[in-house]
Amino acid sequence: MAKMSDVAKKAGVSVATVSRALCKPETVKPETRKKVEVAIQELNYKPNMLARQFRTNETKTIMVVVPDIANPFFSRVLRGIESVAHKKGYQVLLGDTSNNIDQEQRYLEILKQRLADGMILLTARMDKDSLLEISQDYPVVLACEYIEGSDIPIVSIDNISSARKVTEHLIKLGHTRIAHITGPTNVILSRDRIKGYKQALETNDLFYEEVFVQEGDFTYESGFNQMSKLLALNNRPSAVFAANDEMAIGAIKAVKLQGLKVPEDIAIVGFDNIKVSSIFEPALTTISQPKFEMGNVAMELLLKILDGQEVKRKQFVLADELIIRESCGGKVNSTI
Ligand code: RIB
Repeated sequence: MAKMSDVAKKAGVSVATVSRALCKPETVKPETRKKVEVAIQELNYKPNMLARQFRTNETKTIMVVVPDIANPFFSRVLRGIESVAHKKGYQVLLGDTSNNIDQEQRYLEILKQRLADGMILLTARMDKDSLLEISQDYPVVLACEYIEGSDIPIVSIDNISSARKVTEHLIKLGHTRIAHITGPTNVILSRDRIKGYKQALETNDLFYEEVFVQEGDFTYESGFNQMSKLLALNNRPSAVFAANDEMAIGAIKAVKLQGLKVPEDIAIVGFDNIKVSSIFEPALTTISQPKFEMGNVAMELLLKILDGQEVKRKQFVLADELIIRESCGGKVNSTI
């Protein structure tokens, strides 16, 4: 059976173009559309054929793929998915990739083997063409992570503006030497958060210093290690924005180990608002993501697709909130 990539090859265009020619033909030049149509006919390509078979042969199971089940952020999103799924009579299969892209790709087999009716991916690091292709034949929704230039429905917050907001909060507190412990830079969310951090510095005429940007991997350990590097600098930062709460907690541990205090010596902020961030001492200033709601919306979208309804709106950007607690300290506009 011909695949979308075969059509793309025959027509001499990308898989993304074939996908657009099928879903949004008005966005593709008429001559390109013609090439795609000819290739579709010659190859007898049948988009969504399997998806149609699914609807008559349901498993009443959906699959959720997460990058790291040990991270409490994802368990909360999962709860949101399950609360809608169970009400509608669906079981949820869970797949953990342990941040491994090959494993992410392997989970797609579950759909191809018809062991699940649809899939919600909380990680989208595999190559774009594979993801676009699978989403043409099977119901797929992305939540949290996304890929650029795709038509797959996505639920997330605006990571750029959230990162800008939390960095600007540190600037308002008087900090001028603000470091950033990033998430893994192969993940689009990490790159978005770096953009927001940079934008906040630029609009406030602060220099972007490369040595102040250290790449972590969203784990406590990486927060600890990258903070230790920042502490070893001659002119160390007075504040640090960690791209998630786990790394912020790891960073605080490194600061304490050096006999320094948070926030008195160094202010630290996180991202996510996982449960422990309000219990931890000092309680974390962070960006709260509507984790449960993200799961709800993602599952509702998947149900629509499973029901054969057209999902016209593709991007669902939910509201975040800056939660100010103790770890950033200081008073707005004081000099540090
Ligand atoms: O904590 C891990 C990060 O990856 C979160 O900030 C969330 O956005 C997720 O996708």
